[in-house]
Amino acid sequence: MSAAVIDGKAFAAGLRERVAAGVAAFSAAAGRTPGLAVVLVGDDPASQVYVRAKHKATVAAGMESFERRLPADTSQADLLALVAELNADPAVDGILVQLPLPAQIDADAVIAAIDPDKDVDGFHPVNAGRLASGLDGFVPCTPLGCLMLLKDRLGDLSGLDAVVIGRSNIVGKPMAQLLLRESCTVTIAHSRTRDLPAVVRRADIVVAAVGRPEMVKGDWLKPGAAVIDVGINRVDGKLVGDVAFESALPVAGAITPVPGGVGPMTIAVLLRNTLVAAHRRAS
Ligand code: GUN
Repeated sequence: MSAAVIDGKAFAAGLRERVAAGVAAFSAAAGRTPGLAVVLVGDDPASQVYVRAKHKATVAAGMESFERRLPADTSQADLLALVAELNADPAVDGILVQLPLPAQIDADAVIAAIDPDKDVDGFHPVNAGRLASGLDGFVPCTPLGCLMLLKDRLGDLSGLDAVVIGRSNIVGKPMAQLLLRESCTVTIAHSRTRDLPAVVRRADIVVAAVGRPEMVKGDWLKPGAAVIDVGINRVDGKLVGDVAFESALPVAGAITPVPGGVGPMTIAVLLRNTLVAAHRRAS
């Protein structure tokens, strides 16, 4: 048997369509269009590509896109002043400050300055706390996208063993919280985990978010496991995930490819979070 390959691109396209329909309905009822502000500091080439893609997708969903670009030598004070301006702007429902930020800027302080109710990235400590406490808030886009793909594939996740490899604030920790909320038995593995293959072999769900090309091997997997590969690594000009895809295919029950798996979900969920922010601010 070969694993079902999860088509994240198609799922994300469907989600973007549903968001666009929701945006049209919101705009008609509220008499204003939801707005997303994206702040880019400096000229990191990868960040420029992401920000352009976010702008295009925002406009395509019928939302207002406010793109704010600042020079690489921007001071912390100037960036905080821009965040304060966007917090106060009634036309802005969501604020995203593209990471990474230049070295002179304290990213944690900038994230903490964003109004938690406009924090569509879900990175603010208040939103991390809301997620951990089971309260409504904003959940980081990539792990929420992973959860949507898993639920679409598996339905009820209750009681399943899940292993999240990676403990970042952006993916690993919120992913673990989301799986716990679905009543999975969750293990968070990381660089100090002993005998990672044995830990992974127990899992019905494996989420790999470590940033190490093809680290998770097919013979680590429990037969039939659902494998979500968050890694995007460039090796000799080719994109590969954190999972050795070819070796995983004959063992896994389902697996996301790289590219075309988790990647397209992130922007689609960002648009969804922005629409949710608009509704919450209107109510
Ligand atoms: N840089 C890479 N991915 C992301 C993301 O999802 N949000 C932000 N703010 N920066 C990023």
